[in-house]
Amino acid sequence: MSKLKNDTLLRALLRQPTPYTPVWLMRQAGRYLPEYKETRERAGDFMALCRNPDLATEITLQPLARFKLDAAILFSDILTIPDAMGLGLYFAENQGPKFTKPLRDERDIEQLRVPDPGSHLRYVMDAVSQIKKALDNELPLIGFSGSPFTLACYMIEGAASADFIQVKTMLYRRPDLLHQVLATNARAVTAYLNAQIESGAQVVMIFDTWGGILPSAAYHEFSLHYIEQILSNLVREHAGSRIPTIVFTKGGGEYLESIAATGCDAIGLDWRTDIGLARKRVGHQVALQGNLDPAVLLSSPDIIVKEVEKILQSFGSGNGHVFNLGHGVMQTTPPEHVAVMVDAVHDLSRNRH
Ligand code: CP3
Repeated sequence: MSKLKNDTLLRALLRQPTPYTPVWLMRQAGRYLPEYKETRERAGDFMALCRNPDLATEITLQPLARFKLDAAILFSDILTIPDAMGLGLYFAENQGPKFTKPLRDERDIEQLRVPDPGSHLRYVMDAVSQIKKALDNELPLIGFSGSPFTLACYMIEGAASADFIQVKTMLYRRPDLLHQVLATNARAVTAYLNAQIESGAQVVMIFDTWGGILPSAAYHEFSLHYIEQILSNLVREHAGSRIPTIVFTKGGGEYLESIAATGCDAIGLDWRTDIGLARKRVGHQVALQGNLDPAVLLSSPDIIVKEVEKILQSFGSGNGHVFNLGHGVMQTTPPEHVAVMVDAVHDLSRNRH
């Protein structure tokens, strides 16, 4: 038995009965909140927030003070792992993430090592423990990591990219080298997520933001294969509770059956997939998380309520749905619209359980 006061997220991820559909949002703590911008201003920059457990805790709690969310998510970033590998992460204003030492040649790849979560990534584990304590068993805490392939995309390009041409070039010319990076990343992600679980994370989510850029066979070989490897080496039970896992591949709607077969507990859907059809395909095996188009939150309260209703209707009655957006909250989202969405999910889902 969980001593959590609100365990609807954990129950829904395990496809157990809940009184209503739980809801949280990807990037629920971020730049659409004025209080986030204020804290970031005080800290200087984004990584200073991640590296300071007091500030990471403060920011994790910000959206929970405003909205009736059913989960907290660790405030951090997926790129902490390559940073701990020595690639030198930094964020240039409005240009997204960059690395001072991206993987440029075979030698760089040979030298890549799995970082010890207890030393180089200690600040993340400290944030997890501190957030867990601050939550005081009110809500579950979600930990996360990037997928080995998504991390490799940034490590090889050295920055965000529109087409990931260097990664794809390596994939076709030197698949052995890409596999070497991915195998190291998979071991790093496994150790990192297991350390988050040891520190108190009650759910873990793998963000495969770029798996969807690959052709189907390459997706299975270079992305999903390594996700499966991680899942089979994760601690699945801690302190007497099952630790549910969520896999989110943006653009992965075609692969639901093979994602379900990895042994994850839930699949995160982006906004393109029809959740009702997804449920018919894999709902007997896994829970589903999603999948309101984040742009809906830029519209108006009445439209938001209607779009929430459409997704609840499409999923249908019964268990195994965690409401979320199909990708992160957009920066220009009015916070009041998030409140409308969260309340609509709770109100409109009660008679479906
Ligand atoms: O969901 C949450 O609230 C938890 C925090 C979280 C962040 N990043 C905070 C963040 C999570 C889960 C992530 C994951 C992440 N980071 C992903 C996977 C999910 C996705 O969005 O597809 C990726 C690809 C990254 C890499 C990354 N970090 C990018 C591309 C950027 C720039 C984004 C932008 O819009 O400029 C970041 C920075 C980042 N990570 C911010 C936040 C709140 C914005 C930093 C700032 O300027 O304050």
